Amino acid sequence: MYVTCLGLINLVVLTWSVDAQHYQGLNDLDILPEGKPPSFVTPGQTYRIAAGSTVVLPCRITPAGAYVLAWKRGIAVLTAGPVKVTPDPRVRLLPSPVSTSSLTGIPELSGEGYSLELKDVRPQDAGDYVCQIGTMEPREITHTLEILVPPRIHYVSHTGPLEVLQGATVKMECRASGNPVPTVAWTRKNNVLPSGERSVSGLSLVIQRADRHSAGQYQCSADNGVGQPDTRHITLNVLYGPEVETERATVHTGIGLEAQLVCIVHAEPAPQVLWFKDTAQLGTTEQHAAHARGNRYTLVIRNVTSADFGNYSCVASNSHGKGRGQLTLTGTAGLAVFDSPPLSSEKDSYNVSWSVNSHAAITEYRLFYRQQPHHHHGHHVEMYNNTKFTYRNDWNSVVLPGAGVVNVQFPLPPPYPGVTRQRMFYVIKSLQPSTTYEARVQAKNQHGWNKLSPIFHFTTRSIEMENMVEPSAQPAVYGVSQQGMAPFSSGVREQFTSASVILVLVLKFF
Ligand SMILES: *[C@@H]1O[C@H](CO)[C@@H](O)[C@H](O)[C@H]1NC(C)=O
Ligand SMILES: *[C@@H]1O[C@H](CO)[C@@H](O)[C@H](O)[C@H]1NC(C)=O
Ligand SMILES: *[C@@H]1O[C@H](CO)[C@@H](O)[C@H](O)[C@H]1NC(C)=O
Ligand SMILES: *[C@@H]1O[C@H](CO)[C@@H](O)[C@H](O)[C@H]1NC(C)=O
Repeated sequence: MYVTCLGLINLVVLTWSVDAQHYQGLNDLDILPEGKPPSFVTPGQTYRIAAGSTVVLPCRITPAGAYVLAWKRGIAVLTAGPVKVTPDPRVRLLPSPVSTSSLTGIPELSGEGYSLELKDVRPQDAGDYVCQIGTMEPREITHTLEILVPPRIHYVSHTGPLEVLQGATVKMECRASGNPVPTVAWTRKNNVLPSGERSVSGLSLVIQRADRHSAGQYQCSADNGVGQPDTRHITLNVLYGPEVETERATVHTGIGLEAQLVCIVHAEPAPQVLWFKDTAQLGTTEQHAAHARGNRYTLVIRNVTSADFGNYSCVASNSHGKGRGQLTLTGTAGLAVFDSPPLSSEKDSYNVSWSVNSHAAITEYRLFYRQQPHHHHGHHVEMYNNTKFTYRNDWNSVVLPGAGVVNVQFPLPPPYPGVTRQRMFYVIKSLQPSTTYEARVQAKNQHGWNKLSPIFHFTTRSIEMENMVEPSAQPAVYGVSQQGMAPFSSGVREQFTSASVILVLVLKFF
């Protein structure tokens, strides 16, 4: 058997060398089967292999015997028997694993078959590989090789930074190749896309009306499940004129303190920012220093004097426009903040409390309060007129000295160094039960009156609550029904309120 085989190999090599291109010879080289015709142990299969890797295409037959296996690709013969015909150095024959038949002591050549090894596969290696047995009737199996190619982005619409004007429509594009065809997805570094989505698929990304929020680094990534995704970055710069905001439009300070005025400026390209007091431009002096960190522009006033109080502006400009922020530096107190509960524990009085932030001591407070005017017209108002009760729509005012035991001061942390929180209360008497009032307060220090606070609402307790709820056991606000709390919510309530006013007035007479 061994000898026969060697003879055949010689013949194959000889025949091939005569006409390598048109070699068809295996059919002529049939070996007369000695008994049962051979069959393939390894069925034809499809192999999906990443480019660059090594594939082994198996071909084994049974029974093991004196058959010649040949590998062909199209009409090209790659191997014949144990002989490698193709000059391609990436191709190699691997003897099949040692099987029981080789226990006879006859090595390799008498094995059951040969596997074809192909190293460093390339996209052009894709196709059918035929393993044929040289019998009278040629038998063959076909392996199909698909070469998987990792994604590669071969076109990016913008290689350098992309600069557009605010409002422009931006289109970015990435094209990629690979096998299978990769999908391209768009993301943004450290951010969602302007559409709000984390990622969108498609060869292009369109941004309508670019603004400063659209600026940043975009990324297209091609992926087909083979190897690593391929990724490219596109930096988008949106050019626009300065947009200026103030951190605090009014900065409360005091004599001898350091004050900071802060403008937040967004602009591209980076703006030039100048500071003005009224119309005079401020340079860097012992008293003033301007500095910037990121988009925060700060004017520091080192040792505030009363001459520093007033109106300031930061003016930011770049090649695309100009923006301005207006700020006021004042020694007056900040707005008062009420901190008493919205429901009185009493039916005819209310302990209202508030605090203000001020560096200078508060010398005087003005407290304003009135019954909440109701905005229903007609019926309710007429009712007041008919029953001759004067509905007092105007504000009661109380003037309170700021100094004294009730004016407690708390030092405040930055950003108000040297400013203290000053707390105050006042008990308003002669109120009507079950009635909503509104209050405002204003504070004065050596620099003048501050702005009037926003309106604060409070409600007195109702009379029936006395029997319903134990005030010490439960805060009044939890014990009142919805109807009981809503003043003037019905005609019944109206009459009740009017009656209690009579009661209060009568009591006052005595
Ligand atoms: C602030 O200015 C006042 C007078 O203008 C001066 O007496 C005081 O020493 C200054 N304080 C600081 C910290 O420079
Ligand atoms: C600051 O500007 C406001 C208007 O924005 C004006 O009412 C006020 O008088 C100005 N204050 C000074 C000190 O110029
Ligand atoms: C009013 O409330 C304040 C606390 O907000 C308290 O210190 C003060 O004692 C109260 N006054 C009366 C008369 O209840
Ligand atoms: C109620 O009386 C006031 C004056 O006290 C008057 O201005 C108003 O028009 C009256 N309303 C009605 C509805 O008569």
